[in-house]
Amino acid sequence: MNRVSTRKALGEAHSKLILVGEHAVVYGKPAIAIPFPLKVRSIVEESSGNIMFESAVYTGPIDSMPMRMKGISECIKETLHYLGKPLEGLRIRIDSAIPLGRGLGSSAAVAVALVRSLFSFCGQEPSQRELFSFVQIAETHAHGKPSGIDMAAVSSECPIWFEREKEPIPVKTNGPLYIVASDTGRIGDTRIAVENVRKRYLLEPEKVEKSLEKIGKIVDEAKNALLNGDMYLLGQLLNRNQEELISLGVSDDGLNRLIERARNAGALGAKLTGGGLGGCMIALADSLESARIISSELMKSGAFRSWYFSSQDDSLYASQEVK
Ligand code: MEV
Repeated sequence: MNRVSTRKALGEAHSKLILVGEHAVVYGKPAIAIPFPLKVRSIVEESSGNIMFESAVYTGPIDSMPMRMKGISECIKETLHYLGKPLEGLRIRIDSAIPLGRGLGSSAAVAVALVRSLFSFCGQEPSQRELFSFVQIAETHAHGKPSGIDMAAVSSECPIWFEREKEPIPVKTNGPLYIVASDTGRIGDTRIAVENVRKRYLLEPEKVEKSLEKIGKIVDEAKNALLNGDMYLLGQLLNRNQEELISLGVSDDGLNRLIERARNAGALGAKLTGGGLGGCMIALADSLESARIISSELMKSGAFRSWYFSSQDDSLYASQEVK
């Protein structure tokens, strides 16, 4: 995946979709995430002087990065320090097709691509442990106390079962999944959404605990539905998960509208994906054609963007953007 060269190196990562279990995963419950094939590339080249960074969001020396990108500059410095490289003489370019703040794991994907490219530049490949420890620096700045599911999902080529502080486990799926992902066009701030759930937990511990328990069980059932190829059951589980996310206060009118529209257009189930409060929703369809119809209905209903794809096997997802 990562090309090794003394003068130039490349690191890549892709985006992710959380199928079931977001937010509850922060509290130690399991979640299932799947790869979503929007890509980010980080290209590192030799240059002179300060380390220069180029991206759609910021271009300039890493020491002058805006506060909200501090995690990225810290991640670069710590990684280079570990690799025994001086903090100079590099140009880092980020080329990303993943929209920011939409629950698709863009911040984790940028950090994974970045760390992979810095290791590759030094002729090395990071172990999973090394990769996660440097990406965690960027993610902690971006999201507060993330569960780690985003970085596990954007660096995995297959669906994963994730539990906090445990090794991610590949999830077997019997038959392809037909998935629609639609973007409300509004940035969803994961840090705020996670913080809102925490505040709600402090106010209503029993109610929130009940929701988290229910989500944990839904994720367990979803794993079996995937294993058995029971897409009808999986669709119902997505719907039940959405009810709990509403009760945790992380859905909103824009997401609810698209979710309702997807169900009316034939989806087996639909829910928000990622942090919520804006961002993206997903729907499960019973065929690629049905996914195409749902996707275009969502565009007609005001989605900012919509994609649909079929997972042909555990690792390969082809997507199509509907304009
Ligand atoms: C964000 O993609 C998923 C959340 O559960 C936060 C986290 O797990 O760190 C909302």
